[in-house]
Amino acid sequence: MLNQTFWEKTLKTNLSSQRNFPNEELCRFLGRNNFQKKNNIKVLELGCGTGSNIPVLLFYKMKITGIDFSNESIKICKKKFKSKKNVKFKLFDMLKIHEMKEKYDLIIDVFSSYNLNSSQNDILLKGIQKKLKKNGIFFTYTPSKNSTSWKKEFHKFDKSTIKKFTRKQSPYYGNKGYFRFISLPEIKKKMNNINLKIQYCEKVIKTYNNGKEIFEFIVIEAKK
Ligand SMILES: C[S@@+](CC[C@H](N)C(=O)[O-])C[C@H]1O[C@@H](n2cnc3c(N)ncnc32)[C@H](O)[C@@H]1O
Repeated sequence: MLNQTFWEKTLKTNLSSQRNFPNEELCRFLGRNNFQKKNNIKVLELGCGTGSNIPVLLFYKMKITGIDFSNESIKICKKKFKSKKNVKFKLFDMLKIHEMKEKYDLIIDVFSSYNLNSSQNDILLKGIQKKLKKNGIFFTYTPSKNSTSWKKEFHKFDKSTIKKFTRKQSPYYGNKGYFRFISLPEIKKKMNNINLKIQYCEKVIKTYNNGKEIFEFIVIEAKK
């Protein structure tokens, strides 16, 4: 699987490409939902990478499960957080989420599920719906089709996915494997299809190459 090989290599040889600190939108989400006042929250992070988001989840005293399909990711995370209770890491493909035994109050996807193509993403979303507890929340931070990288790429794998970037200007040039983008109407429809109610929906726009290249993310918070 191309994505898996890509991530295994990246996490072994190019760790500087990974954030050391939690995603800002995730921090804002946790803050505005008053998670400091909630107890025993069970959270699942899909594609936990090098564990950059884990410290903020620990800060809110959550019971954390991080999954990733990269051996290297799980090795790094286990080492980094070995002294911490209430956090476990599992080598696991998010596409098999429906096989997980537990249910969660919170499932987070910070720039991870974009590695799935459109039909794989539909499988994941059905699994998320199954594994969320009643009133559970799904948080996602995912690439938007308003990004120049999507608009200017012509080699598309399906209606939302490219398999590699051909433009060197693209911020993710060099990525290998599926890279999926979504639009606001599409994500709204998908949340509706799995009976999750959107509570928060915003865009984060970044620019690159002195403002010539736009890369946009969609931030969604949806409740079961
Ligand atoms: C860009 S990194 C993001 C890591 C982390 N969420 C963060 O915010 O720092 C994407 C991660 O998703 C993982 N990933 C991609 N596809 C996956 C899959 N099908 N199952 C589990 N993990 C996956 C990759 O191995 C990688 O660690």
